[in-house]
Order: sequence, then C-alpha cells, then structure tokens
Amino acid sequence: KKQKLWGGRFTGETDPLMHLYNASLPYDYKMYKADLQGTKVYTAGLEKIGLLTSDELSKIHEGLDQINEEWSKGEFVRHASDEDIHTANERRLGEIIGRDIAGKVHTGRSRNDQVATDMRLYCRDILNESILPSLAKFIDVLIARGREEIDVLMPGYTHLQRAQPIRWSHWLSSYATYFTEDYKRLQQIVERLNKSPLGAGALAGHPYGIDREFLAEGLGFQGVIGNSLAAVSDRDFVVEIMFWGSLFMNHISRFAEDLIIYSTAEFGFVKLSDAYSTGSSLMPQKKNPDSLELLRGKSGRVFGQLSGFLMSIKSIPSTYNKDMQEDKEPLFDCLTTVEHSTLIATGVVSTLSIVREKMEGALTMDMLATDLADYLVRKGVPFRETHHISGECVALAEKTGLSGIDKLSLEQYKAIDSRFGADVFEIFNFEQSVERRDATGGTAKSAVLKQLSALEAQL
Ligand code: ARG
Repeated sequence: KKQKLWGGRFTGETDPLMHLYNASLPYDYKMYKADLQGTKVYTAGLEKIGLLTSDELSKIHEGLDQINEEWSKGEFVRHASDEDIHTANERRLGEIIGRDIAGKVHTGRSRNDQVATDMRLYCRDILNESILPSLAKFIDVLIARGREEIDVLMPGYTHLQRAQPIRWSHWLSSYATYFTEDYKRLQQIVERLNKSPLGAGALAGHPYGIDREFLAEGLGFQGVIGNSLAAVSDRDFVVEIMFWGSLFMNHISRFAEDLIIYSTAEFGFVKLSDAYSTGSSLMPQKKNPDSLELLRGKSGRVFGQLSGFLMSIKSIPSTYNKDMQEDKEPLFDCLTTVEHSTLIATGVVSTLSIVREKMEGALTMDMLATDLADYLVRKGVPFRETHHISGECVALAEKTGLSGIDKLSLEQYKAIDSRFGADVFEIFNFEQSVERRDATGGTAKSAVLKQLSALEAQL
C-alpha cells in the first residue's frame, strides 16, 4: 500500500478523482528549482542547530542537485501518487539517498511555509530574470524609434477627433512613459515580496529554534516575515503581481488599439510587418493586425485572473487553507501572458513601418484654431475672448466653403476682429505649432528628446 506523506492517521484510500482534484504537480512542477533551493537552505539551517550531521547534509545536497538535474533535463519521472512539487521532490530524494536521511529533511517544516517560500522565490526570479528585462527592451525600442523618427508629425486626438498636431515620437514617448512607470511599479513589488516565510512551520512557528534570518539570507531574501501566521497565509504578492499584470495589459490594450486604428486603410499611418499580421482564409486581399488584436484581447484574461483569485481567497479563515493552492494557475498564466505580450509588442514596434505622407497629410488647418486664438493672446487679448473669435473664423471658413482657416482673406479676418494683422498667416504652419509647445512634456522636438532621455535614464 502506497504511503502518503501524511498517511499515518488514515485507514481509507483517497478517491482517485479526489487525488487528481487535489494534485497540483501538473502545474507547480514549474517551481522545482525554487523548491530544491529552499530545501537546500532549510537543511543547512537544520544542520546549524544540530538536527543534521554535516555528512547527512552533504548527502542531502548531492541528492537535491541530482533531482535538479533530472528536472532540467526533462528526465524526472513523476509518480501517479505525487501530490505536488514538494512531495515529488521529497519522494525522489528518499529514492536517491535513502529514506533514513531524506526523512529528516522536513523536520520542523511544513508544506505551508515551504510553498509560500517557493512561490516568493519563483516570482522574484521570473520577474527579475524575464519580465523586467523584456519590459526594458520594449521600452528601449520605443525610445529608439522615437529618436529616429523625431521629425514626423501626425494628428493628436482627443475623443478620437483631430485635436492638435503632435510628433509621432511624442506618441511613442507617451507609451514609453506608461511602461516605465509599470517597470518601476514592478520593481517595488519585487522588493516587497522578497521576504522569507521559511521557518514559520505549519503556522505556529519553529519548535527547534531555527535561525530564520540565516534561512532568509541563504535564499537572498531581504529579511523575514515577522509573524508565522501571516508568513504562511499571505498571498498578497500574488494579488499584487496580477494587479500589476492587469494594469500593464490595460496599457498594452490601449497601445494596441491606437495601432489598430492607425493601420486601417482609412488612417493608413502605419503598416504592420508581415511577421505580425495574418491573412484571411476567404478574402485574398486581407492583411489583419492579429498581433495587435491579441494584445488587446489578452488583457481581458489577465483581469479575469486577478478578480478570480481575489474571489478565491476572500473570507478564507486564517491561516493556510487549500483554497490558496488556486493561486498558481492564474499567476503562472498571467506571467506567461504578460511576457509573451511584451515580446510580441516589441516585435510589432520594431518592425512596423510608418507612412509619413499619410500622417502629415491627415493634419488639417482647423487643428491650428487654438494657435489662432493664441495669436491674439500674444497681442494682449484674453484667451476666453480669443477662443470665441477663433471659433468664428472656423465657422466662416466652413460656411463659405473654404478648405481651411488659412484661406480666409485678411479683410475677412479684420472684419471679425480688427486686431488681426497680416502676420496672422504665419501661424498656419504645423511644424511651428508643434515647436511652440516646448515646455516640459510638450511635443516640440527638444521637449520630446528630453522625455526620451529621461525615460532611458530610469531603466
Ligand atoms: N500544493 C499545496 C499548495 O500549493 C502545498 C501546500 C499544502 N499544504 C497543506 N497544508 N495541504 O498550496
């Protein structure tokens, strides 16, 4: 009869369906490295307080190294009876070094502090090694493109209506700003989660006086979680990561939506590379921005994972409850979705081409109506009045069928307001309109270049 790790007090067998329902190995095997690393340091802690001999410790460490090798080569043989990554690794250690020694490894430890430790290590490492670097690369690409195409103008929109001329690079810089904030926000989350639950036991603490600070240091944690009940039951870091993922994907979805709009024939500002487009099975002419639509669509799934997990852990009593095992699948899927989305977004931006004539051809003179109002402000007229006067000019041009406010004659201008002079026509220049906005954060070339440098300095 197979002995379960916790089988001593049981006489009956687990329903096979219950075993499958309970088992987390199909997904928590991903944390094998963190789990083995945690056990290495934990057993070093046991040796330190005399619960293992140094000979036993080195046998354990050799065994753990072998298991690590097996996992990384895809050679680890899972048993049907393995419940989760913790039980699988411990079972295997017993096979390799013998149950007599392997049976001492879990002294004073519970899967409750073990899994909390594994999760924190796993998150810290994947965020530091994959998510943050790929996000930095994405931001780099936005910045590089912003510098290269600094001369290109396009309409800026509010309410998706043409508003004022801006630089294409200013648009790129706006998203680089969002993503840089995301980057910094994620660094803060990593810092906050990097605390050690190990040595908290099942909930009440460690009965052999383990040195928790020693364990924390060995695992690269910045300190220990100061309450053993909280240490085993806190999954706030999982929530924070999924909230972070949701906010990030929200930014990605808006970014993707802009590019979807800009890539329509009606706009024609950008052309997606073939590498990130797909065709239609029926309509031969189609080239669809599927990459962008997936970026937009996948945001929904991350929001769902966040709210789903919040529901799972809402109102659960202290401390560990099996509901908490439901943290893994949504978290892992969130991390994969975020990482893949970052890589795809990077590919899209680094390979798309812009159609400058279309961008600049979409600028219309009415977009300079604010500049026309500003013209009179510079002559001392209060803005509220100049706004109204400029509006009259727009209305007159429209009524008389002119193509824009630049086509009104000086006489027509003077008839609307005598303070207009011949120099009014100088404002009908998109480049100059953009260049006037040179205060910090604005769309003038110097201001945009400064933004890009400031963003770069933050990575
Ligand atoms: N697989 C479990 C999880 O991920 C490990 C902790 C099990 N603890 C327990 N007391 N049953 O949550």
